[in-house]
Amino acid sequence: MDLKKIYLSENDIPRQWYNLAADFKNPPPPPLGPDGKPVSPDMLAPVFPMNLIEQEVSQKRWIDIPEEIIEILYRWRPAPLRRAVYLENFLKTPAKIYYKDESTSPPGSHKPNTAVPQAWYNKQFGIKNLTTETGAGQWGSAIAFACKLVGLNCKVFMVRISFDQKPMRKAMMKVWGAECIPSPSKETNAGREVLKKMPDTPGSLGIAISEAIEAAVTDKSGQTRYSLGSVLNHVLLHQTIIGLEAKKQLKSVGEKLPDIVIGCAGGGSNFAGLSFPFVNDKINGAKMTIIPVEPKACPTMTRGPLTYDFGDIACMTPLIAMHTLGHSFVPKPIHAGGLRYHGMAPLVSHAIKEGLLEPRAYDQLQCYESALIWAGTEGAICAPETSHAIACVIEEAKKAKEEGKEKVILFNYSGHGLMDLTGYEKYLAGELKDYPLPEKELQESLKSLKDLPKL
Ligand SMILES: Cc1ncc(COP(=O)(O)O)c(C=O)c1O
Repeated sequence: MDLKKIYLSENDIPRQWYNLAADFKNPPPPPLGPDGKPVSPDMLAPVFPMNLIEQEVSQKRWIDIPEEIIEILYRWRPAPLRRAVYLENFLKTPAKIYYKDESTSPPGSHKPNTAVPQAWYNKQFGIKNLTTETGAGQWGSAIAFACKLVGLNCKVFMVRISFDQKPMRKAMMKVWGAECIPSPSKETNAGREVLKKMPDTPGSLGIAISEAIEAAVTDKSGQTRYSLGSVLNHVLLHQTIIGLEAKKQLKSVGEKLPDIVIGCAGGGSNFAGLSFPFVNDKINGAKMTIIPVEPKACPTMTRGPLTYDFGDIACMTPLIAMHTLGHSFVPKPIHAGGLRYHGMAPLVSHAIKEGLLEPRAYDQLQCYESALIWAGTEGAICAPETSHAIACVIEEAKKAKEEGKEKVILFNYSGHGLMDLTGYEKYLAGELKDYPLPEKELQESLKSLKDLPKL
């Protein structure tokens, strides 16, 4: 009988994170400051604690995970690797579909894998308060959870559209003791400026990031820092525990490397977490198709240029070399709130440039259709973000059937959708539509890149 759940003993939890930055043939371009020169670590010090900045710029391949962090991660890690045999049977595919079940964390997604270390390193550095932004609310609830366990105060700026669509995520943040504010808000200059120009805006991650950074750097006590749930190198680093566990688990059931690795990508963290340990094999000659998946409504990797851009609408972050739709881009209100970001992690963007990844985009309706197939076969209700990965998995499994090949597909089940049922309800009532980004809107948004440095 094929195993459906592959567990890893607690003793076998990875004790180091993997840093892809150490292994690129060509190094990624550095972030730039306002003067167009590479940023130095101390320029980031008002925003992040120095111990995380060290990880951000590190070129070390392996970075030790402190024992105290592992003790917290044991609450749900190692996460199970599962085999989607019920979906395989439904699709009558010869492909073997494995997935890392990141929905088993207390907040319900992969986000606590970095929320916990980020809170812990801030606490070590003597910080008392963290500010952050959240799209779908998964990150907000993860950082609220981590701050509670580690003992920090937490303030979350939540993109307004998600604040309205996902009231239960707010409740979760409150249960873990965090304050949650809809963004744009009147609390910050950045928020007030946006509200003046666009009073009815659904908000965006770019706006919420500006608010959260401003709230951190304007705190005169010096005891507040900002925390980001994706995009940055240290965030992706913390997430590699997913792929490192998956490797051990696949090996334990006699699989070699997967043929195809898939993850949805908003800022890139869950995708990178699963895939980067396998990208390492690809760099060393292994043959693998590695696919980050995004929405057609926010097609950062598939249609956005790779260039320098700001991470937020108020241009408070350094200039980052990434695939981008322009920092002023406000995506349409698709339900995958966590995939509505204008940029893509620099390490993911660079890996695309190096020919290591093959990004793909799907429309929201196909993703919901795939989520329903998943719910009707595997049983679980996935997050709308995760449904993008599942849409791609189903396509690849069908292709394997056409080709008659027993491919091994591995994907990241980044979160459950039990707090996202409004989207499902609307889909079932036929009220959702697709929003492929019109070329004219893309060109308009890219104008915000005009005066920025080029690669
Ligand atoms: C369940 C889930 N999957 C994926 C994402 C996308 O983020 P990232 O690309 O950083 O993994 C999010 C973001 O909120 C999420 O909540």
